[in-house]
Amino acid sequence: MGKIELPTQLPKDFFLGAAMSGPQTEGAWQATGKLPNLWDRWSNLNITDFYNLVGSYGGNDFTRRRDEDIQIFKDLGLDSVRTSIQWSRLMDKDGKLNQAGADYYHELFAAFAKAGIDVFVNLYHFDMPAYLYDRGGWENREVVEAYANYARAAFDEFGQEIKNWFTFNEPIVEPQQRFTNAVWYPFHHDFAEARRVQYGISLAHALATHEFRLAQAAGTVRADAKIGLINCFTPPYTKENPSEEDLEAVRIVDGVDNRWWLDLVTKGEFPQDILDDLDRSDIDLGQRPGDEQVIKQGPVDWLGFNYYHPARVQAPSKKTDQYGNPVFAEEYVWPDAVMNKSRGWEIYPKGIYDFAMTMRDNYPDLEWFVSENGIGIQGENANKDEKGQIQDDYRIEFVRDHLKWVAKAIEDGAKCRGYHYWAVIDNWSWANAFKNRYGFVEVDLDDNYSRHYKKSADWLRRVATTHTIFDA
Ligand code: BG6
Repeated sequence: MGKIELPTQLPKDFFLGAAMSGPQTEGAWQATGKLPNLWDRWSNLNITDFYNLVGSYGGNDFTRRRDEDIQIFKDLGLDSVRTSIQWSRLMDKDGKLNQAGADYYHELFAAFAKAGIDVFVNLYHFDMPAYLYDRGGWENREVVEAYANYARAAFDEFGQEIKNWFTFNEPIVEPQQRFTNAVWYPFHHDFAEARRVQYGISLAHALATHEFRLAQAAGTVRADAKIGLINCFTPPYTKENPSEEDLEAVRIVDGVDNRWWLDLVTKGEFPQDILDDLDRSDIDLGQRPGDEQVIKQGPVDWLGFNYYHPARVQAPSKKTDQYGNPVFAEEYVWPDAVMNKSRGWEIYPKGIYDFAMTMRDNYPDLEWFVSENGIGIQGENANKDEKGQIQDDYRIEFVRDHLKWVAKAIEDGAKCRGYHYWAVIDNWSWANAFKNRYGFVEVDLDDNYSRHYKKSADWLRRVATTHTIFDA
């Protein structure tokens, strides 16, 4: 196929901004009465699991540098920023508002508002408070209820300040990382548990969405506010000439990772084929009478799509793994894949377009935005010029190519309203800590977290202020 000429202009009212999260930036892990979340617990238990022994405690020093960072966003021409409230900061152990935590966020939101930057607020970014995990985490209905209570408290407290709310960031990731792949605390290899967690999160999402609707009807939340969900949808691909079994693998991966959430947030239900598959594998989700009514509250006003890489799968070579878990698919290594070797993720900008077309065709009424997209590179210091500035042309290329496919998707009818880059300022990446750097702005750990523009920052400013996708 010949090279497609892609558009280079984004709509005038398209928004461009930054994505970040509370646990990866705030630090101040014991200030304002914040309680430990699972990241703090894991850091305390085994700091050697974290790259260069950097645990959750300091974030990227955002709390101390808040005003400086907001000025950076402003200077780069960004109109909006998404961050998250930390549940463990806003609420105490008895489910009551922690006023010092609330004041922290009031000040933060006021600082953004003063700079003319719209803050999007997400309520959960993989940061379960440790005491709630001890009560059973997402598998326990009391914890699901506690989340709804927390969401209500947040809507009550900040409902007049915030327009764009999200219940969860990437709700598929905790089931995968904590409970299937065992790479995050508590390191379980249990497919059935992962699905129960997925189900518990889904209920929590629906309850919180219901709370939002009630708060809006009561006038506690602004009339122009919207509620959404953010997920890392991975468009699934398989081999060029797939067998029926390969296509079956695609169906299931797409069903569990993507359609599950898309059906929840558009129809208030789950895909029946996946419920049947789970049933056939004797996986008990812990459903109870009345749950269907709860799930019906799931539909949202719009959606966030985090996109880093596609999923490539094929038929599995075995039916169960060494832990006795069912295996529905195996990774397919595409020989033509271009890789970001630092992160081990494939770079495939067209995936953003393919997902956009799926949305247009299958969920035509739903508006959405690219809520995260970015490239994390290890050892960027090696690319410093004589003045000490990181020359990150690869970042310009990455974002440029993805944005062009976004522009093409819009031209072809996608209801994509904006784009947030992850993470405009380098931040803490979970167990990888500061190994892979995502920022247009460097955080120098050897110089007290000081901020320095990389080469790409100037490019970003030009794009953000003109909506033109420049080549360089
Ligand atoms: C997304 C998350 O999955 O990807 C972020 O929402 C995360 O929290 C980002 O930091 C990049 O992934 P990583 O693992 O390299 O930090």
